[in-house]
Amino acid sequence: MKKYNIAIIPGDGIGKEVVPAALNVLHTVAEVHGGIQFETKEFPWSCDYYLEHGKMMDDDGLEILRNYHAIFLGAVGNPAIVPDHVSLWGLLIKIRREFEQSINIRPAKLFSGLPSPLANPKDFDLMVVRENSEGEYSEAGGRIHKGEDEVAIQNAVFTKKGTERAMRYAFDLAKTRKGHVTSATKSNGIVHSMPFWDEVFNEVKNDYPDIKTSVNHIDALAAFFISKPQTFDVIVASNLFGDILTDIGGAIMGSIGIAPAGNINTNGKYPSMFEPVHGSAPDIYGKGIANPIGQIWTAKMMLDHFGEVEMGERLLQVVEEVTAAGIKTPDIGGNATTVEVAEEICKRLKQ
Ligand code: NAI
Ligand code: MG
Repeated sequence: MKKYNIAIIPGDGIGKEVVPAALNVLHTVAEVHGGIQFETKEFPWSCDYYLEHGKMMDDDGLEILRNYHAIFLGAVGNPAIVPDHVSLWGLLIKIRREFEQSINIRPAKLFSGLPSPLANPKDFDLMVVRENSEGEYSEAGGRIHKGEDEVAIQNAVFTKKGTERAMRYAFDLAKTRKGHVTSATKSNGIVHSMPFWDEVFNEVKNDYPDIKTSVNHIDALAAFFISKPQTFDVIVASNLFGDILTDIGGAIMGSIGIAPAGNINTNGKYPSMFEPVHGSAPDIYGKGIANPIGQIWTAKMMLDHFGEVEMGERLLQVVEEVTAAGIKTPDIGGNATTVEVAEEICKRLKQ
C-alpha cells in the first residue's frame, strides 16, 4: 500500500466548500484504486485564523508543511476582514516562495458538456509550464526624476538555472503526454534575454531527441491559442508570457470554476502545492453552489505529480462524463450543488 501524506488548507470562502468535496472524491479514488491511501491533515490557516491569532499561519507552519508529500489548498482571501496583500502574502505567496515552487503548471482542454467561447473549437488539450520565480517579474530597476524627466527602468532577470529548470520540466512532462514542446519566445524584439532563452532551449532539446519542438513568438502564440489551440501539447514560457498564456488557456475552456494549477518544487527539498486557479468567491460563498471541478481537477494534477497517472486520467474522464450528463453547478449552466456534483463523481468512480 502506497501512502501519501497531504496537508490540507481549505482557506477562505468557497475553499471551505470545494476542498471537502474534492477530498471526498480523492478518498473514493483511493478506495477504487485499492493500492494507495491518502493520509490528510487539515490546517485552519485563513483570514478567520488571522482575526483570532493576528497571523495567517502558525510561526512554525512552514516547518510543519515541509514534511508532507504535497499541499492541497483551496483559496485564500476575504477582503471584507483582512486586506488581500496581508492574507495572500501571509500564506499563499509565502509557501510558494519559501518552498521554491519555481514552476507553475496549468492545463487547458476542451471539456465535454462545457461550452468554450470559441466558435468551433477542435479537441484541444495543452499544458503551460510557466517559469514562476524570475524573468520579467523582478525587483531590479527603479525610477528617477519627477515630472517630464521621469524615468522608469524595469529589468528582467533570466538565470541559466531558472530557465533550464523550466525547460527540462516541460520536456519531461511532454514525455508523458503527446511528445511536443513549444517555446514561447520574443527574440525578434527583446534582444538580450530572449536570444538567451532560445539558446538554452536549443541546448536542452538535444537531451530529448524523442520530443518534437517548435518555437513561436509570444504575440503569434497568443493568437494561435485562440485560432488553433489543438496544435499544442506542452508550452514553456517565461513568467510574464506564461501568465498571459495561462489566462487565455483558462478563458478558452469556458469557466474559471474548473481551472486547476500546480506550483511545483523541482529540487525535491520541499513539497509542491496544488490549488485551483479561482479565488475564494465571497459573492457565492455559503450558498453551496461553488463549482468543485477546479478543486477536483487540481486533485488529478496532484495524482499525476505522485506518478498515479492512470488514476488521474480515470478521474478526469469521470468528471467530464458528469459535466456532459448535465450534472453541473450554475456557473456552467446547471442547477446542481457542490455536494451533488462531487457525489455523482464518487458514484461513477465506483461503478
Ligand atoms: P474569484 O476567483 O474568487 O471570483 C471571481 C468570479 O468567479 C466570482 O464571480 C466568483 O463567484 C466566480 N467563481 C470563482 N470560482 C468559482 C467556482 N469554483 N464556482 C463558481 N463560480 C466561481 O476572484 P475574486 O472575486 O477576484 O477574488 C476573491 C478573493 O479571492 C480575493 O480575496 C482574492 O484576493 C482571492 N483570490 C485568491 C486566489 C488564490 O487563493 N489562489 C486567486 C484569486 C483570488
Ligand atoms: Mg494572471
